[in-house]
Amino acid sequence: MEKLDLTTPDFTNKNIAKLAELFSNCVTEKKNSKGEIERAIDFDALRQELSDTIVEGQQERYSLNWPGKREALVTANTPISKTLRPCRDESVDFDSTQNIFIEGDNLDALKLLQETYLNKIKMIYIDPPYNTGNDFIYNDNFTANKDEYDEASGQRDDEGGRLVANPDSNGRFHSDWLSMMYPRIKLARNLLRDDGVMFISIGDDEQANLKRLCDEIFGEDNFLGTIVWKKKTNGNNVGYIPPVHDYILTYGRSAQDDILPGFPITQDFIDKTYSNPDKDPRGLWTTSDLSANHIGPHFPITNPHNNKVYSPPRGRYWVFNEKEVLERIKNGRIIFGKSGAAAPIQKKYLSERNSMRFKPESWWDKQGMNSDGTTELSDIFSPKIFNHPKPTLLLKNLINIASKSGGIILDFFSGSGTTPHAVMKLNAEDGGNRKCISVQLPEETDKKSEAFKAGYKNIAELSKERIRRAGKKIKQDNAHKEGIGNLDTGFRVFKIDSSNMVDVTLPPDEAHPDMFDVQVFNIKKDRSSEDLLFQVLLDWGVDLTLPIERKEIEGKEVFFVDDNTLAACFDKGINEDFVKELAKKKPLRVVFRDDGFTSDAVKINVEQIFKLKSPATDIKVI
Ligand SMILES: C[S@@+](CC[C@H](N)C(=O)[O-])C[C@H]1O[C@@H](n2cnc3c(N)ncnc32)[C@H](O)[C@@H]1O
Repeated sequence: MEKLDLTTPDFTNKNIAKLAELFSNCVTEKKNSKGEIERAIDFDALRQELSDTIVEGQQERYSLNWPGKREALVTANTPISKTLRPCRDESVDFDSTQNIFIEGDNLDALKLLQETYLNKIKMIYIDPPYNTGNDFIYNDNFTANKDEYDEASGQRDDEGGRLVANPDSNGRFHSDWLSMMYPRIKLARNLLRDDGVMFISIGDDEQANLKRLCDEIFGEDNFLGTIVWKKKTNGNNVGYIPPVHDYILTYGRSAQDDILPGFPITQDFIDKTYSNPDKDPRGLWTTSDLSANHIGPHFPITNPHNNKVYSPPRGRYWVFNEKEVLERIKNGRIIFGKSGAAAPIQKKYLSERNSMRFKPESWWDKQGMNSDGTTELSDIFSPKIFNHPKPTLLLKNLINIASKSGGIILDFFSGSGTTPHAVMKLNAEDGGNRKCISVQLPEETDKKSEAFKAGYKNIAELSKERIRRAGKKIKQDNAHKEGIGNLDTGFRVFKIDSSNMVDVTLPPDEAHPDMFDVQVFNIKKDRSSEDLLFQVLLDWGVDLTLPIERKEIEGKEVFFVDDNTLAACFDKGINEDFVKELAKKKPLRVVFRDDGFTSDAVKINVEQIFKLKSPATDIKVI
């Protein structure tokens, strides 16, 4: 019976496998530091395969580099053996909600989500620290010793990780920030669907570096554009050109036509864009260029009313051939300006639009400002509880242009929780069923801050309470709407913690007498069966929001996830009668604890019993 691995994916091994698929002759074996044989890449062979297209050593090349980049890549690829522990008490509608709130460092969260949400996320929005010189950034170096910790000006979390100030006097100012962002964006990209989109808010300090970093991670062709968002009305005379905007860099997993469906057409848009001054029986219309800059036909067009002749503007071409142009002039689909005496132009009818959505443009000055975000949060709590939350209108519109009505939205720098708030609001407005995953570090609030005085010891606490209150208010405000009762305002809370299993792979010199006990009972004593269940779901890549039912079979507790997607029993004393009963339910996957069987004979027979009664079931142990 196979044992679940219970660690996050090892990307170095995955990369070797990808290379092996392309160049099997470049895969070899070598001894690692423990003297074990492992797979490796023969670089000399690979070099030969790629002949003269390699840059090496001191040769000049185009690339974004900084001290620490290599370590940042290793950080992204290194597996961890942590887990997500469910927290019912802090959740809302735990059993039925499809939204998730993860408390912890987002690097761990992104690693933990790799199996389950690979290629599943429609949109990611992040609003990371902008590296203004006053930000705390997360230091991923867990190997620093205690003295180094004590020296650090920042805080330390339970795991020994730390938030450190990144003042611009630090010689590694940009490097530290890039090293923090690189593994996170790299791992986040894996989670996007092929038509998935990532938006990243950023200011002037790191916009240029972030653009280069994302070009490297996503590929320049997948850059969809930059939104310039007006965040305040005046720049208070700060700096040479006081900034009143932020940037929102936008990348697609794989740029394609419908990757950003755009805004749905509103009556306001129709009123502003379309009219019918000549009472055209085809209805409302607007105008559109008859020429374009991609190469096409080039011929003189004569205005039949005054015989004036027009050629396309310099460097441009007509979008139709001559026959089509004459036909369209005859049908009144090409006109000579509204006056009849100007250059030819096309009529575009509302009724003939390909899509009832329109493209977002890059300049956003009516999408709420920082002050709106602050007011929204003050309405929920008290003033000044969180610095510069984004306005929900901005987030609603980003979500709106990326997702027509469904899909999973992820924000892994969730802050005060604007993204989950906006998802609920937009779903209430347009009847959508988008789901949200938020990740937020339990970053301690300053003792002098309003948040601390209001009882929120860390930002994750504040964020969860905001989602609770916002969800209730949205339901109240929309009480008159049909179906509002079905709006998902719940969320399952998970906290990142060490694995549920005791590490039995410690080197002999680090082992202690208790370990003998551990070899037999490898599950930590303080972990519940629900803890184990979610670790199994993560490891097996099963959706964390599927409905879960607890049933009793032969006196044992069994979890059924989404009916028969997975059945799990972590009780001890498993005997053949129980296994036979469970097999009758024909689960697709079944999991037991390794030490849960009454005897070795039962353990051996489990596979036989399932083979007979439910051959499709995949059986594993933890
Ligand atoms: C600029 S704020 C986001 C504000 C958010 N958009 C809003 O509207 O409230 C960035 C947040 O990311 C959090 N953060 C920083 N490093 C993190 C990490 N490694 N893991 C998770 N959260 C982190 C910080 O605690 C901070 O609250």
